Amino acid sequence: MLQRRQQHAARHTFDQVIGTSVPMQQAIASARRFAPTDLNVLITGESGTGKEVFAQAMHNASRRAGRPFVAVNCASFPESLLESELFGYEEGAFTGSRRGGKPGLLEAAHTGTLFLDEIGDMPLPLQTRLLRVLQEREIMRLGATAPVPIDFRVIAATHQPLAELIAEQRFRQDLYYRLNTLRLALPPLRERREDIPAIITPLIANCLARLGSRHPAQALPGELMARIVAYDWPGNVRELENIAERIAVFLLPHASDERIDLGSLQQDCPELFGSRPPAPSAMQPTPSTDQPREKLTQERVDAAMQAADGRAGLAAQMLGVSRSTLWRWMQATR
Ligand SMILES: Nc1ncnc2c1ncn2[C@@H]1O[C@H](COP(=O)(O)OP(=O)(O)OP(=O)(O)O)[C@@H](O)[C@H]1O
Ligand SMILES: [Mg+2]
Repeated sequence: MLQRRQQHAARHTFDQVIGTSVPMQQAIASARRFAPTDLNVLITGESGTGKEVFAQAMHNASRRAGRPFVAVNCASFPESLLESELFGYEEGAFTGSRRGGKPGLLEAAHTGTLFLDEIGDMPLPLQTRLLRVLQEREIMRLGATAPVPIDFRVIAATHQPLAELIAEQRFRQDLYYRLNTLRLALPPLRERREDIPAIITPLIANCLARLGSRHPAQALPGELMARIVAYDWPGNVRELENIAERIAVFLLPHASDERIDLGSLQQDCPELFGSRPPAPSAMQPTPSTDQPREKLTQERVDAAMQAADGRAGLAAQMLGVSRSTLWRWMQATR
C-alpha cells in the first residue's frame, strides 16, 4: 500500500541546522535570504546533505510558515501512481477510483510550499503537466473537466546533475528554468569536516540517552573522533546518523572514564578503519596546555597535517586543539 504523508508540516528550522564551517554558513545565509522571497528554489546536494532540512527551514522562515509543507518524492512512485498522487482524481476517473474522488498533493500544498524531492526522477510526461501547473497556476484532477486555481511555492531538490539530464533529454529545459530561479548548493560533509564533531556528538549523546546510558555526556576517545573526521562520508549526515547509533551501542557498556579499545569497534564500523587511517602519532590525548609538550614535536604536527591532506582545520581537530593553537605550534617549530 502506498504510504501517503498525512501530516503536511515542516519540523525543521534554521536554528537546528548545525554547521559553523564557511561553506555551511554561506548556505545558511543564502537560504535565509531566499526564504522570504516566495520565489522557487532549486536545492542541489548529495544524498544526506540536508536538502529536506533546508527546504523545511526555508518554509518555516517564509510567509507560508504554518501553512502546509507537502513533500513529494518523485523517485518513489511509478509514473501512473505519481500522477494521481500529485493531481488527484475525480470520482470514476479510473476503475477502482475512490467515491467522491481524491485531492492530489498539489492541492494539498495550496497556500503552502510544495517540496518536489528528487525532481530529476520525475517522468517526462509529468514534467510537462507540472510545467503547465506552474505556468497557469491552476490544476486539473484526473477525470476533471474544470481546473481549480492553486497557489503554492515550489522548492525542488535533486542529487542529480540536471544539466546532464537536460542534455540527455531526460529533463525539460523549460521546467528547469522555472524551478531554478534561486539555487542552493549544499556542500558534502567532506568539504566541511570541521562541522562533523558538532553534528555527531549530540547524535551519539542522544542515542546513548535513549539506550539508557548512565554516561550521557561521554566524551569520544580522541582517536575515534579523528577517524570520524577523516572519513569521507559518502552518505553525508544521513550516514553520520547511522554510524552515531552504532558508536553509541559500542560505547554503552563502557564507563565514561574508561580507556576504550577501539579494535572491537572495527567490526561494527569498518568504514572508519578504511584505507586512510589517521596518523597514529596525531592521536594522542588532547593536550591541556597551550604549549606543545615534549611529545608534541614538529613530527606530530606534520603527521596530523599529512593525515588531514594539508587542511589545518582538520589537523587541529585531530590534535584536539584550535586552529590558532595549531598555527602557533607550526610557527614555533619552524
Ligand atoms: N546541518 C545539519 N545539522 C543537523 N542535522 C542535519 C543537517 N543536515 C542534515 N541533517 C540530518 O541529516 C539527515 C538527512 O538530511 P535530509 O533528509 O535533509 O538530507 P537529504 O539531502 O534530503 O538526503 P536524502 O538524499 O537522503 O534524501 C536528517 O535526519 C537531518 O535531520
Ligand atoms: Mg531527502
